[in-house]
Amino acid sequence: MHSAKLLKAGAATLVGGLLVSTVAVALPWDIDMADSQAVRGYECWEYTVDEEGKRVCIRAMQPLPDGVVSQEHPFSPTPFKTVAPDKMDIAAWTAMKNPLEPTPEVLATGETMFRTYCAPCHGVPDDKGVIANLGTVAQPGRMAGVVALAGETGVLSARTDGQVYRVIRMGNAIMPPYNWAMSDDEMWSIVHYSRTLDNGQYIPPEPEPTDNGGEEAPE
Ligand code: HEC
Repeated sequence: MHSAKLLKAGAATLVGGLLVSTVAVALPWDIDMADSQAVRGYECWEYTVDEEGKRVCIRAMQPLPDGVVSQEHPFSPTPFKTVAPDKMDIAAWTAMKNPLEPTPEVLATGETMFRTYCAPCHGVPDDKGVIANLGTVAQPGRMAGVVALAGETGVLSARTDGQVYRVIRMGNAIMPPYNWAMSDDEMWSIVHYSRTLDNGQYIPPEPEPTDNGGEEAPE
């Protein structure tokens, strides 16, 4: 009798525990590192501009972890800060070159990754690389403000490989970062794949016309 009671109480506790554990509770200290932007130790994390207009790195590394997860205060920790695009060395990102060759394997990886991680917001490309339903049109379940990547009004043609890689890895003004979901190679594979989309190729801007009508500057 006594042991049956104990058993019942034990079972109830177990069921109760399981129920509670399936509830996602977002307490202030439950910050998922996976949702943060990826900042690596060897990279500059935040820049400022000095009086001479030179970029100066003001945070070369994130503070060392105080325990397992770096928190600024034990009772009111600051969530992981995202780096605002104007605090990044955009020129360096822009100049980054894709380290991969667009082999069939790389393109296939890129397509899989794109369909998994990008299509939910940006749309599914058809077999000609055309994404129907582009742009900021409100879609059920789709984030507002999504820009068209490909097609006539797509932004890809105005973005270098490095810029696309940065947006995937760091997120942008609204777009969340996807670094947590994939490796560097997978991100660069998406960049290659995105170039196969309709109007996805980068078109460098026309050089600024010079004042001297294109003649060589006098010595
Ligand atoms: C949760 C929705 C969402 C997902 C998923 C998403 N994006 Fe975006 N993306 C946006 C929004 C919103 C914008 C426009 C606002 C901004 O730039 O933050 C955007 C903008 C962009 C831009 C243009 C940024 C610029 O330079 O102006 C690129 C490139 C881009 N996304 C690529 C991708 C790729 C590649 C993936 C897949 C890894 C992806 N996006 C996944 C929402 C998303």
